[in-house]
Amino acid sequence: MTNIQITNADPTAIEADLLVAHLSKDGVNIDIEGVSDAVAAVDAKAKFGSKTLLPGTGTKARTIALIGTEGDELLARRAVSLSNGIEMEGTGRDRHLAAIATRGSKAKSIVLAGTFETFEQVVQSGVGAILGSYKFTKYGHEDEAGLDELVICVPETLSADGAAERISVLADSMITIMNLVNRAPNDLYPESFTNFTREVVADLPIDMDVWDEAKLEAENCGGILNVGRGSKRGPRLVKLSYAPEGASTTISLIGKGITFDSGGLSLKPPKSMETMKSDMTGAATVLATTLALAKLGVKVRVDAYMALAENMPGGGAQRPSDVIMMRGGKSVEVLNTDAEGRLVMADALALAAETDTDAIVDIATLTGAQMVGLGARTAGVMGTADVRDAIVESADRSGEAMWAAPLPSYLLESIESDVADLANSGTRWGGMLVAGVFLQEFVGDKAWAHIDIAGPSFNDGKPWGANNKGATGMSLLTLVNWAESLA
Ligand code: BES
Ligand code: MN
Ligand code: ZN
Repeated sequence: MTNIQITNADPTAIEADLLVAHLSKDGVNIDIEGVSDAVAAVDAKAKFGSKTLLPGTGTKARTIALIGTEGDELLARRAVSLSNGIEMEGTGRDRHLAAIATRGSKAKSIVLAGTFETFEQVVQSGVGAILGSYKFTKYGHEDEAGLDELVICVPETLSADGAAERISVLADSMITIMNLVNRAPNDLYPESFTNFTREVVADLPIDMDVWDEAKLEAENCGGILNVGRGSKRGPRLVKLSYAPEGASTTISLIGKGITFDSGGLSLKPPKSMETMKSDMTGAATVLATTLALAKLGVKVRVDAYMALAENMPGGGAQRPSDVIMMRGGKSVEVLNTDAEGRLVMADALALAAETDTDAIVDIATLTGAQMVGLGARTAGVMGTADVRDAIVESADRSGEAMWAAPLPSYLLESIESDVADLANSGTRWGGMLVAGVFLQEFVGDKAWAHIDIAGPSFNDGKPWGANNKGATGMSLLTLVNWAESLA
């Protein structure tokens, strides 16, 4: 874990491996003797995200990193807000810049000297610096492990009380997601995911209840059970409850936790399977969100449901054309065993809808169609207009890219079945929405949003901004922001 310090001290007077400053077309944002000559001599670029390393001359740091700030190619608001008119603080920008500064650096101590006007900018920068220095080290590469010391220099006029604590909780929570998602599927499966969860909630005011196969059977959770039948590693439903005193609002968070999605008998081609260890990101995200809200003491009651199963084509696997009984009594014809996410989510949604909850938000790596429609960096948000739009606004405020999408009722026709109440797959057109329309059948009349993070949750390309290769931790910030807006 990184030790975080926020100070009004002069950044050039702090001993560190690396001092990070900003470079705009007007020059460097802090006073360093001789730096403008150095900038000219190496032709340092001010373009957004470009990075120039200089010797620490004129400072107490070993090395200076100048990060260009001109332009905004990576901003979530370009992707989201320009057309919905929401004015935002541009907070994603600071997270991305700080991550670019620290990524690939061997520095163990870093001083950030950004240009800070708001508390949120300080928090985003701190989170970004930690994310950029993140390295998954469970199976090796221990020597590349992240940052020990982070010092953020802020002007005296800015009150940054509590910023260090907030940075630590948010970055830690995102890293919890990333560490879970990056784990290999032979190491992370429903039971081991459950054990991990038990360990991390132990010291927090979070209650945990685990439903194993026998209990899932007794509770008629046919979606989770039948998806899990093709695997030797049985499914689980993990329920978490955080109920702080004084909370008047209850939210229910549901996460898809397919620890590996082979497609089942509707087997995926090998290439499509390579990233399918990430199909449990939704469950990791609701776990991490619950941890963050408990650590921050946010006054909202949270009921979290992690629907954990491994989708495998073993001898017990469900077959295309099987009919299964879901929680709540609906029957589903399983036409495609690769449309397994909506099956496990449906049981958990039905369970949440039985409770006296104020809003349900589910989050899932649900459809490849999400990426076809919105690209790999923008999540799709569907549901009842109130919660859906509140989530998109929280995403804007958090500098994460989410976009509202409709749930047209005519799409329900495409998932009608001749033999059951519903089929689990329908028309290809608008595949993300079809999945959403399927889920809608299980939430009753509750206020609800469904977030499809198939693309943005996992980066199979090069790192960009605050997003590393592999798991990104995306949507944690949005969900925490949304929960706080209800407290
Ligand atoms: N886990 C996948 C969706 C996915 C694809 C997530 C790529 C991340 C990257 C999901 O279970 C799935 O296989 N969906 C099918 C649904 C189809 C069979 C109706 C899909 O999108 O192809
Ligand atoms: Mn699938
Ligand atoms: Zn899946």
